[in-house]
Amino acid sequence: MENFELYNPVKIIFGPGEVSKTGEEAAKLGKKAMVVSYHEHDFFIDLLKSVESMLTAAGLGVVPFYEVTANPLMGQVDAAVRKCKDEDVDVVIAVGGGSAMDVAKITAAGVHYQGDLWEMIVSRHDEEVAEPPEKALPLLMVPTLPATSSEMNCGAVVTNERTREKSYVFAECLYPTVSIVDPSLTCSLPPYQTACGAADTISHAMETYLNGVDDTPLQDRFLEGVITTIMENVGKALEDPNNVKIRAHLQWTSVLAWNGWFAAGVGGWAPMHQLGHVLSARHDVTHGASLAIVMVAWMKHLYEYRIERYVQFADRILGMDVNGKDPDAVAQSAIDQFDSFLKGIGVPTRLSDLQISGDDIDAMVDDVVRISFGPDGKLNSRPPIDREQVKTIYNLAL
Ligand SMILES: [Fe+2]
Repeated sequence: MENFELYNPVKIIFGPGEVSKTGEEAAKLGKKAMVVSYHEHDFFIDLLKSVESMLTAAGLGVVPFYEVTANPLMGQVDAAVRKCKDEDVDVVIAVGGGSAMDVAKITAAGVHYQGDLWEMIVSRHDEEVAEPPEKALPLLMVPTLPATSSEMNCGAVVTNERTREKSYVFAECLYPTVSIVDPSLTCSLPPYQTACGAADTISHAMETYLNGVDDTPLQDRFLEGVITTIMENVGKALEDPNNVKIRAHLQWTSVLAWNGWFAAGVGGWAPMHQLGHVLSARHDVTHGASLAIVMVAWMKHLYEYRIERYVQFADRILGMDVNGKDPDAVAQSAIDQFDSFLKGIGVPTRLSDLQISGDDIDAMVDDVVRISFGPDGKLNSRPPIDREQVKTIYNLAL
C-alpha cells in the first residue's frame, strides 16, 4: 500500500424525504442561490419548483440556471458565471446528475477565477499547465442520479466545444459543503439512465481495482463491495423502479465509490475514463455508456498483465469456481460474464451498439495522447500503455 493523505469535508444528509431540508441547509450558506439544472427538465419540473419554494421560504433569493446538457460545455459554464456575477449570487446549488453538479462546481469557482476558465481544466498531462482554482462559492448538491460521486468529491468534468476536449479539474475548493442525497428523487429515472449510472459507479471501483498497486486487502474488499452491491441491485431497480430501498443501495454505493476513501493508498489514476472522455467528446456518448464500452475492451487487452487480479475478480465478485482452473480461461470467462451483465442491464458494450464506426479511431487516439499521456509518452495505467495499445483497445471496442 502507498502512503496517502485523505481529506473530505462534505456533509452528507442521506435518506428518503431529506430533500425537504434543502431550504434550511442553503440558508446556512448564503442569501442568494443560483440553482443549476438541466435545459430539458420537464421530467422533474415538480422537484425544481419545490426546491425554489423551499429556498424562498427560507429567505433566499433564487436565480435559476436551467441550461445544462449531458456532457456539459464550457459555454454553459461561462453563461452561468456571468449570471452569478450579475445577480450577486453567494451560494450555488445543483439539482441533477453529474452534469449539473459539474457545471455548478466550475461556476462556483469561476466567479472568483481570473482569466479564461478553461485554464483551470487539465488539458494535458505531459506538463503542468492547468491552474486549479483556489476559491469557490459554497456548494450545495441535490443529486438525482446515482453515478459520479461528484456530490462527495472535489472533481468536475466539462467539455470544451471549441477544441472538442473533455477533461477535468480537481481542487479542494470544489468540495460541496453539503450534499442532500435523497434516493426517492431517483425513482423516476428512466431505465437507460439507471443502467448507465450503475455502469459509471462500477467503472469508478474498477479504475482503482484494476490500475492500483498490490497489497491493499481492505481497499480490495471495499471495491469488491461497491461492484457487487451495484450488480446485485441494479436489476432489481430496473424491475421495480419505485422501490426506494433498492434505490438507496445504488445511491449510497455511488456516493462512496469515488469519494477518495477506497482509492486511498491504492493509487490508480482513472485511465479508462481518459478513453471514455474522448469517446463522449467526439460522439456525445452518455458517460456511463462510454465507460461500459471502454471497460470491456480494456479488460480484454490488459488482463494478461495482471491475471491474478482477474482471477480474484472472478472469484470474489462473480462467484466463479476458480480452484484448479486455468487462470487464463478463468479471466476470459470473467470478462465475458461481465460483458453479459452490462448488456443485460441495457448498456452498450461496443461502439457498434451506438452505430459508431471506427472511422475516427486515429483521431480519438490522437486526443488521448495529447490530453492524457504523461511525460513518459504513455498513459498512466497498470501497466502504462502506449499509443498503439490505446488504438488496440478502441479497435477491440468496435
Ligand atoms: Fe465516471
